[in-house]
Amino acid sequence: MTSDRDWIDIGAAADFSTTPLRRVKAGNVELAVSFRDGEFGAISNACNHAGGPLGDGRVEGDYVICPWHNWKFHRCSGSGEPGFEADRVPAYPVKVEGGRVLVNVEAGSKRSRAPHPPHPLSRKPERAPGPLRLAGISTTAMDGANPRFSGSDHLLDHALKAARDLGAETRMIKLNDLSFRNCEGYYSKAARACTWPCSITQMDADDQMDQVYEALVHWADAIVVATPIRWGAASSLYFKMAERLNCIQNAITIRDQVLIRNKVAGFIIVGGQDNIQAVAGQMLGFFAELGFLFPQFPYVAHSRGWSREDMEANVEIVRGSTELAEGASMLAKRCLDLAADLIARHEAPPSVERGGRKAHALRT
Ligand code: FES
Repeated sequence: MTSDRDWIDIGAAADFSTTPLRRVKAGNVELAVSFRDGEFGAISNACNHAGGPLGDGRVEGDYVICPWHNWKFHRCSGSGEPGFEADRVPAYPVKVEGGRVLVNVEAGSKRSRAPHPPHPLSRKPERAPGPLRLAGISTTAMDGANPRFSGSDHLLDHALKAARDLGAETRMIKLNDLSFRNCEGYYSKAARACTWPCSITQMDADDQMDQVYEALVHWADAIVVATPIRWGAASSLYFKMAERLNCIQNAITIRDQVLIRNKVAGFIIVGGQDNIQAVAGQMLGFFAELGFLFPQFPYVAHSRGWSREDMEANVEIVRGSTELAEGASMLAKRCLDLAADLIARHEAPPSVERGGRKAHALRT
């Protein structure tokens, strides 16, 4: 039984009919109120996925599309999109009387969450038994059709070969061979909109950043990231990857979910001119925020210095340098030695102090 008191006036029908979707508070209930083809719809404003504000999304056909990750709910019935009908948000009766829009917030249908299949990356990170594993991440943005010598890749090859010679398994990931989207600023919409696994990875089966996530979070004991220097910074592909890795750091910041424990990172940095220390500083800072540990002397690097413009000489020096090749090999060994030590100690704590830059509890 409902009474007149249960109907809440949310505004003038003439006003509401000018906007396809808006967010409205009726009593204590936040609603996504839509208007299309002469019919009003009112559903809960809170998306079933991660609580995104449905009323800030858009209407497409009969569905409201969440602005955070595009899940869809029927704008009148609240049911999920075809295939996910049982995943429903509450829907509320709406009527128009005397030119006013009234919503009955007491008579809403129930929310029900039908589990979407978990993404494979969302499994608990647990080290699988077996030999040590080192992943090399190449970030050079080479023209695939006209490949040429890459100093950073050359040294990364040496590092991986050294790791194999030490009995480790290796995996080379060349970002340039992967097709992956730019981070689309979910974090800037809301911290909770940036999810683990990455929202883009969950939505787009063709996005290949999952290979990097799989290696960093699940497979590798150690990683070596190699980059050229471009205008005093790491390569553009490095930053494209780093933006997508925000979801790993964000999981620490907002959920205290530390995905990377007892793993080791080292770096190879090669540039024609200078700024090695600044590039190394950025990389060390960033990977520290993800939870990686570093061996003593965690990077090898080479540059010709500010006054040299002889890139051809730089290439020849890197290609022919036994010192740099040995340096890259020893870096791999230091990374693996530390990883082995961490694994052997069996000291992985079940939980750690809140990590990251904001090392205090988040006030929500
Ligand atoms: S789709 Fe709505 S919060 Fe993710």
